[in-house]
Amino acid sequence: MLNGPDYQTPQQLDELEKNAAAELAAVADDTAAEAFRVKYLGKKGLLRSLLKGLGSMQPDQRKAFGARANSLYARIEEAFAAAPWRRQAAAQPDAGSFDPTLPAWPLPAGSIHPLSRICRHICDIFVSMGFDIAEGPEVETEYHNFDALNFPPHHPARDMQDTFFVSDTLLLRTHTSPVQIRVMKKQKPPIRCIMPGKVYRHEEISARSYCMFTQVEGLFIDENVSMADLKGTLLAFAQRFFSEKARIKIRSSFFPFTEPSIEADVECFVCGGAGCSVCKHSGWLEILGAGMVHPRVLAAGGIDKEKYTGFAFGMGVERIAMLKYRIDDIRLFFENDVRFLQQF
Ligand code: DAH
Repeated sequence: MLNGPDYQTPQQLDELEKNAAAELAAVADDTAAEAFRVKYLGKKGLLRSLLKGLGSMQPDQRKAFGARANSLYARIEEAFAAAPWRRQAAAQPDAGSFDPTLPAWPLPAGSIHPLSRICRHICDIFVSMGFDIAEGPEVETEYHNFDALNFPPHHPARDMQDTFFVSDTLLLRTHTSPVQIRVMKKQKPPIRCIMPGKVYRHEEISARSYCMFTQVEGLFIDENVSMADLKGTLLAFAQRFFSEKARIKIRSSFFPFTEPSIEADVECFVCGGAGCSVCKHSGWLEILGAGMVHPRVLAAGGIDKEKYTGFAFGMGVERIAMLKYRIDDIRLFFENDVRFLQQF
């Protein structure tokens, strides 16, 4: 093994350079290159230890020898950086070169949340029918959420929607219907409006219910709007959203803000009405509540109830998404488990 003191004459430095050149030419891979670097250029390598020996030389000898040794170090370093094995490695496409014609590495990309997807789809269908989109606040006044919608004070209907109160008069809206009042106060008929948003209810969390969910509200007010318009609009929506051949069924119901009130079912899109586990063998799926806007609600919205009539409807987006994607636990929408979200 060579060491510093063996190379203390100019001839010996020449010999070291020759050895290094021969060894470098034989380097063929990363491991050998690293061994070469450690041996010649490393902190404890031959060249550094030569320079360390300078202190014990005569001053004139030291100067000349030091200069030669330094320039040798620089030459070997340069030769190492430009060694042939590097060029060979670069020339081989599978050894780290960049080929711009290859397809890119797949980057992990996000996807649209299933609720947003369904919500946008519902809104797009109504927008194509001429509806505008409006939004209202999630922290709402008790007045807009209940009073203006004809919920009498202390009426049990207020309990139907267990409410999170923020203060004596402010609450987290329990439905998107209060946005109807805000829209009526701002616009003059004809009003065609669709109102998506989050709503909150103080409910026990389970596979079927959650404390927060999404609704899409609809409102149409003009002269001579009738129940037939409501039915036609809901049918057109169901045929675009569920299936071209979808039929709807209307049942009477009760909401304080509509008179008459209905609930609409759509023929099960899974079994086509024959009966299956999704529709619990009834052939029908309940999808929304609706009705003709109560005259008191029109009045609260500042609309002339003698001149105008209107219909309204409200649907739960989670329920529709669960039916469409056969999801059996509502909590999945809010847990942000990537394994769930990646499926959409
Ligand atoms: N707001 C009702 C709820 O949350 C749904 C609803 C029913 C909205 C009938 C309406 C309607 O606009 O006309 O249960």
